[in-house]
Amino acid sequence: MTAPLSQPFSIPGMLTDADAESAWIEVIRKMDETYANLVAQQVELERKNAELEEAQAFIASVLGSMTDVLIACDRDGRIEQTNPAAERALACTGRDLTGRPLRDFLDQASHAAFARLCSAALRREGGSDVELSLRGPTGPFPVAVNSTVRYDQRGHAIGLVLVGRPIGELRRAYRDLAAAHEGLKQTQQQLVHSEKMASLGRLVAGVAHELNNPISFVYGNAHAMRRYVDRMTAYLDRVHDGAGAADLAATRKELRIDRARTDVTATLDGMLEGTERVRDIVAELRRFSSEQKHASERFDMTALLRSAVTWVARAQMPDLTVVFDLPEALEIAGHPGHLHQVAMNLVQNAIDAMAGAPSKRLELHGREEDGRIVVTIRDSGHGIPDAILGRIFDPFFTTKPVGKGTGLGLSISYQLVHDHGGALTAVNHPGGGALFTLILPAAGCRQGAVQ
Ligand SMILES: Nc1ncnc2c1ncn2[C@@H]1O[C@H](COP(=O)(O)OP(=O)(O)O)[C@@H](O)[C@H]1O
Ligand SMILES: [Mg+2]
Repeated sequence: MTAPLSQPFSIPGMLTDADAESAWIEVIRKMDETYANLVAQQVELERKNAELEEAQAFIASVLGSMTDVLIACDRDGRIEQTNPAAERALACTGRDLTGRPLRDFLDQASHAAFARLCSAALRREGGSDVELSLRGPTGPFPVAVNSTVRYDQRGHAIGLVLVGRPIGELRRAYRDLAAAHEGLKQTQQQLVHSEKMASLGRLVAGVAHELNNPISFVYGNAHAMRRYVDRMTAYLDRVHDGAGAADLAATRKELRIDRARTDVTATLDGMLEGTERVRDIVAELRRFSSEQKHASERFDMTALLRSAVTWVARAQMPDLTVVFDLPEALEIAGHPGHLHQVAMNLVQNAIDAMAGAPSKRLELHGREEDGRIVVTIRDSGHGIPDAILGRIFDPFFTTKPVGKGTGLGLSISYQLVHDHGGALTAVNHPGGGALFTLILPAAGCRQGAVQ
């Protein structure tokens, strides 16, 4: 059977037109596919590239915003990368730095330390902190450096990463701080000194006031004595001149010799009493104002309180009513000078608070209970506002104008009482005025702080 003529003629083994066409179509399809793959790869590559650039920009911005110096070196100590802070500090561009030994930028004194860092890196030893001195454009400057070993993907140590903070600024800041601190300490010392001077001034004024009385007494009596002596001398002169009995009797009457004779003893007694009072005041002053730091002795708190009130209050507030409710003696062991200072501070504050008050009254109560001496000092002043009650013992806290108060009296007193194993507290009395309570261990009972 023969094939119809309309059918294409084909020889077995030979490509027909249709075969060739489909082969072409296949080729073109493959080319399309390959092209599409290429385009996809290109897009992916561009995306990765963008990501990479972003990551690089991020790292660059991190490195750029670091204020610390960052230097990456290889195992031989050659610079591989630096951050802008390092470039600024060394006054070189990154390009100039790359490949150069870091040693070139180190002060001679730091060479050994850097060599140790490099050999530690070779031994794969962990991070360490050292101080290196880098050579900047204006000379060497100290840098506190943290050094860590850098590894490659296979875990081989390939270099060092040094991160350093210039500490010149820090040192300068420390120096300024130390200077400011020193200045502050001096000011504080001056204030403490001026508080001391102020209380010394008060003490001197009080003691002068106290001495005034007996001294004027002695002075007045001495004048009287002089007059008696003059009269007696005149009489004796007449006796020595051999005056007659009648003449002598008249002179004796005229010079009031008999009166002088009886008065002399009383005048001398008065002088003696006055000088004894002066002696006692001076002894009291010695006893309660001594500056021996570590002396601890037994003394009477009642006498101490009386003297503190007398010296501070009498001269400053003559119209003050003082109520002493104190036992005959309150024996205590400690530093009388310091506790006298405490008592004077408390009395002075009470006087300050009562200035201008209609009634001026100071009450001191003292008792011994359970091995403790409890003393309360109450005034009739304006009291302590609740808002500041918690701060009055703070150093330098004062509500008084400049020149009147330093704010140190109570803080020093608190410390002195504490040093004696005692306690000092303040409240407002329900009936008005401030009430300070001083608790101290009684003599022989000083075993720790008073609660
Ligand atoms: N008896 C008192 N009555 C009222 N306020 C007082 C009394 N004692 C102390 N204060 C308050 O406590 C503050 C601190 O006292 P102080 O440390 O002695 O310092 P200064 O007397 O130099 O101010 C005083 O400024 C005052 O405000
Ligand atoms: Mg005071």
